[in-house]
Amino acid sequence: MIKFAKTQHISQCIEIQKNSLSKDILSELNNYFLFYLFFESCINNINCFFLVNEEKGTVTSFIIILKNPSKFFFDLLKASIRNYSYTLHAFLLMIKNVHNFTKCVLFLKPPINEFFVELPGQMPEIKVIATRNEYQNKGYGTQLLNYALKLIDNKCIVKTHSEKAAQFYIKNGGAIAGYERTGLWKLTIFYFFPIK
Ligand SMILES: CC(C)(COP(=O)(O)OP(=O)(O)OC[C@H]1O[C@@H](n2cnc3c(N)ncnc32)[C@H](O)[C@@H]1OP(=O)(O)O)[C@@H](O)C(=O)NCCC(=O)NCCS
Repeated sequence: MIKFAKTQHISQCIEIQKNSLSKDILSELNNYFLFYLFFESCINNINCFFLVNEEKGTVTSFIIILKNPSKFFFDLLKASIRNYSYTLHAFLLMIKNVHNFTKCVLFLKPPINEFFVELPGQMPEIKVIATRNEYQNKGYGTQLLNYALKLIDNKCIVKTHSEKAAQFYIKNGGAIAGYERTGLWKLTIFYFFPIK
């Protein structure tokens, strides 16, 4: 059953994030950052759609869509000030782990984009979509993606470096818009747009 995420779902989402997206930059952050800064900022935020697919109390998959991606940075900043004691604690844990810290600093470098198609200005962005490992290939991701796309008039972008995710987006109607190179990865940018 698809529903809007609540605070009680966050721990399960973090678990899925860390297992299914272990190479993602978000997974490098410790649980304090993820819980209090990232996931909590997405709940009750009019700029976000944070949905979970839940079966008998188990979150099988989740999706986070940012309606206005550039505004989200300020939401995170506000959350880090509101939860300053967690921010400080999480930051100290981060710098103890030089490897993660370096990766996160590299990630902050402005990315270089190359587009093949012209997108109509600011588009909503799927920030994260992931299915719990043991529930993958059962249709949960497709169900969640299609439900979420309806909320944003089937119009958004999503960036990925995963070949499996790329196939998943293509099967669900996504097309390649271009590439984004960061200090770490080359991400493929997909776009979804209403079929006329
Ligand atoms: C990408 C991802 C979210 C897809 O989620 P999912 O729940 O496994 O997706 P689905 O089950 O809906 O679809 C995947 C496959 O299952 C098949 N499937 C769909 N409905 C099904 C059903 N009812 N029964 C069995 N199989 C089904 C689909 O055809 C598809 O198979 P195919 O790729 O061979 O065509 C998931 O693989 C994942 O979490 N990956 C790691 C995280 C990630 O890379 N996220 C994207 C980052 S941008």
